[in-house]
Amino acid sequence: MRQFFLLALGFVIGIFAAVSLYAAWQSRQPPNVQAGSMALLSYHVGGIKAALDGGRCDRGTLQPHVASMQALAGQLGPIFAPTGDDAQFGERAVALREALAGLDADIGSGRGCAAVGEAVAAVGETCSGCHRAFR
Ligand code: HEC
Repeated sequence: MRQFFLLALGFVIGIFAAVSLYAAWQSRQPPNVQAGSMALLSYHVGGIKAALDGGRCDRGTLQPHVASMQALAGQLGPIFAPTGDDAQFGERAVALREALAGLDADIGSGRGCAAVGEAVAAVGETCSGCHRAFR
C-alpha cells in the first residue's frame, strides 16, 4: 500500500515537473515567433528580389517591403532574447537596420536598379553575418 502511494506521488511530481518545465521553456523561447519573424524577413527579401528581377525598383513597389523589414529588425532583440551573447546579437540586429536604412535611401533615389541591387546584397550580408554567429 505504501509503495503504491509512493509510486502515485512520484507520478504526480513527475507530471507537475514536466508541465512546469514545458511552461518555462515556452515562455522563454517562442520558437514560432522566432521562426515566423525570419520567415517574414525572407518573404520580403524575396519580394524585393522578384521585383528587381522583373526590372522594377520604384519606391512604390519596394518601400512597403523595406518598411516591414525595418519593423521586424527593430524587434529581433526581444524576440530572440536570451541568446548566448545578447550584446553581439543586438549589434548584428543594428547592422541589419543600418543596411535597411541604406536600402531605403537608395530606392527611388534615381541611382538606378543596380544601386538598389547592391543595397539589397548589403542587407543579405547582415543576414548571413548573424546566421554565422547565432544559427
Ligand atoms: C540578429 C540576428 C539575425 C539577423 C540579422 C537575421 N537573422 Fe535569420 N535567423 C537568426 C537566428 C538566430 C535563426 C535561427 C532561428 C531558429 O532556429 O529558430 C535564424 C533563422 C533564419 C531562417 C530559418 C528560419 C526557420 O524556419 O528556422 C531564415 C529563413 C532566416 N533566418 C532569414 C533571415 C533573413 C532573410 C535575414 C535578413 C533580412 C535574417 N534572417 C537576418 C538570426 C538572425
